[in-house]
Amino acid sequence: MTIRSRIIGVGGYLPERVVTNAELAARVDTSDEWIIERTGIRQRHVAAEGQKTSDLAIAAARKALAHAGLSGADLDLIVVATATPDNTFPATATRVQAALGMTGGFAFDVQAVCSGFIFALSTADNFVKSGQVKTALVIGAETFSRILDWEDRGTCVLFGDGAGAVVLRAEDGRGTNQDNGILSTHLHSDGRHYDLLHVDGGPSSTQTVGHLRMEGREVFRHAVSNLAAVVDEALSHNGLSAQNLDWLVPHQANKRILEGTARKLHLSPDRVVMTVDRHANTSAASVPLALSEAVGDGRIKSGDLVLLEAMGGGFTWGAALVRM
Ligand code: UT7
Repeated sequence: MTIRSRIIGVGGYLPERVVTNAELAARVDTSDEWIIERTGIRQRHVAAEGQKTSDLAIAAARKALAHAGLSGADLDLIVVATATPDNTFPATATRVQAALGMTGGFAFDVQAVCSGFIFALSTADNFVKSGQVKTALVIGAETFSRILDWEDRGTCVLFGDGAGAVVLRAEDGRGTNQDNGILSTHLHSDGRHYDLLHVDGGPSSTQTVGHLRMEGREVFRHAVSNLAAVVDEALSHNGLSAQNLDWLVPHQANKRILEGTARKLHLSPDRVVMTVDRHANTSAASVPLALSEAVGDGRIKSGDLVLLEAMGGGFTWGAALVRM
């Protein structure tokens, strides 16, 4: 028997308040046309005053658990991917653990910014494959609105708040005629690019929270090449080609990056799940939010071959190939 992690539940949560491009154009020197043309973003959700990353994470987690037909007490592990934790410590995951009524097992955060969900999924998957954990909840949750410089038009138009979650369960991954579950995950980082996308604050450097700073054009250039490489790596590791893919669920940073990746793979755009137009870049939440939307509306079905990928600060980047 080959133990694999099956995704048995998905869920997403977006804060109620929607901020349009027009609202931002009233605050900084930008326009709806520029934002749509350069990024594909039309709007983003922003957390209400006092609404924390854990609140978003808990809401998404409850939906994923309900979808899986499980409760918090059934979980052995929670991994929360976030770069915007409620507090410097403890881990936001422990707050989620308490809210879900999970008293056993263990919960911790993973920090890989926009790639965080792929890193968290890979971490949880390895606990499942090793036999240490049977049921895991993996969440990407962010409130980037709290770390944006709302005077900087180069960054404040790009991000939104949200959370997405998946429930993993250890199952025999060998189906009758194909392997099921998470087939493989592939992680990378290159710390030489630390400064190209970073927050200029932190407990041990400035004792402030700080604001997000990004060299957008440089990040874009690296994103296109790193994502193409990691997608190839995931497919060739499994002896598959892009033609075998039913769906690509990419990190939602910029519509032009999504389209570039699809073009490189010769993948029709209608096989690519896109939410960036409505969610903007929700960092670690973007991939599980997109996945839960496409599963929820029936596009992604059981048995579909799905490739998840992301790239973010660090740089970090990664991919996961999943038979749903
Ligand atoms: O999630 C982690 C990964 N993050 C990403 O993948 C983001 C990657 N980067 C991008 O998506 C794009 O680089 C941006 C959307 C950030 C910027 O688009 P761009 O086409 O690379 O624009 P640019 O930075 O080269 O700037 C072009 C011009 C500049 O003006 P000048 O110097 O040519 O006069 C900017 O000042 O656009 C200007 N600009 C804006 N204009 C109107 C920058 N931001 C804005 C804005 N509104 N919001």
